Amino acid sequence: MADFDLLIGPIGCLVTCHQNGPRTGASLKELPVIADGAVGVKGRTISYVGPWSDVKEATASRRLDASGRTVMPGFVDSHTHIPFMGDRANELVLRLKGATYMEIGKAGGGILSTMRAVRAASPGELLASGRAHARRLLSHGVTTFEAKSGYGLSLESELKQLEAIKAMAGEGSQRVAATCLSAHFVPPEFKGSPDGYVDLICGEILPGVARKKLARFCDVFCEDGAFTLEQSRRILTSGKALGLLPRIHADEIEDTGGASLAAEVGAVSADHLLAASEEGIEKMAAAGVCATLLPATAFYLRKPYAKARAFIEAGCPVAIASDCNPGSSYTANALMVLTLAVFGMGMMPEEAVWAMTLNAAYALRMDEEVGSIAVGKAADLCIWNVPSYLHLFYPFAENPLNAVFVGGRKVEA
Ligand code: NIG
Ligand code: FE
Repeated sequence: MADFDLLIGPIGCLVTCHQNGPRTGASLKELPVIADGAVGVKGRTISYVGPWSDVKEATASRRLDASGRTVMPGFVDSHTHIPFMGDRANELVLRLKGATYMEIGKAGGGILSTMRAVRAASPGELLASGRAHARRLLSHGVTTFEAKSGYGLSLESELKQLEAIKAMAGEGSQRVAATCLSAHFVPPEFKGSPDGYVDLICGEILPGVARKKLARFCDVFCEDGAFTLEQSRRILTSGKALGLLPRIHADEIEDTGGASLAAEVGAVSADHLLAASEEGIEKMAAAGVCATLLPATAFYLRKPYAKARAFIEAGCPVAIASDCNPGSSYTANALMVLTLAVFGMGMMPEEAVWAMTLNAAYALRMDEEVGSIAVGKAADLCIWNVPSYLHLFYPFAENPLNAVFVGGRKVEA
């Protein structure tokens, strides 16, 4: 029997991103790199990481020479709104003419426009669309992503979205973490009585989702015009009691105290945070809440970026993600998100790489399985046609992806 099923080496630049638990503070500036390294895979897991010289004589069923190339963990996109349907290109024009994101939403466009398209779609159509978007992520090196409901906004349609996510997860070409975001917007049936919808979420949707084990996380869009702080607290607490881990769309447009609420309820992550207060940032750091920053959303909504440096200095684990959705951030391009994290939010390339690998895996509580290249972890990795990770930033708006492996298996990207 061969020593390895797959042996990648020699590797010009091997970025392992490995340590136990998330990377925080000043240590984010250093990235563990092995020059002239190798990765060995047995079955679905990594069984060797180290110098090429130690394994070059080993036997392997399959060998790949990656000299002059970079090998990194597959990217983890810890915040997307896949699966969705429909087209909101008209909103782009409205926004470019000066309408705000929330104005469009309040006028029945925005999230409700996608809700109508999702409600009208058959389960098969929704799954096909979800798959297509997942594939776009894969073609940019994303091997694990978070997927959410939140465009159904009724028991039946939220379950339809979560079933589509379950089907995508079962296909094995990427790993998928499921979140129930039934508290994304108040649907038209409850216009004028939003608390009635909160009752439905806490009384029926979340219990149904938990019973069917369709989600690991419960999320809320806590924002003026979506859900209030009190409603968000109630929803996240109800979800938690059902075993759904809390996460929160916090302080995206205004500071409504979402960051502090994340700390109070022990959220695994608070996301967006463009308008988070200093107090909120301190509380998140003290409670160990991951700050998931979404620079493509700030870019696309033409808003000031989240204060990445303040979150890093406060000691929060920082992740970055795409927020891939048809309204506020229509991209699946992980490298574009990394570029914006660096050029827009002032992160260093090393910090950005940690934020989209190990720290994003931590934000999904999957860091023991994915997010770094280490013995015993899933063999989810990408080979890039660049001599070092820095060259993923130096030429920009390019996609030098060479190959993607998930569980040791090469997947078509
Ligand atoms: O994360 N802010 C709320 N939800 C999404 C946008 C969803 C949409 O516009 O369809 C976000 O930005
Ligand atoms: Fe989002």
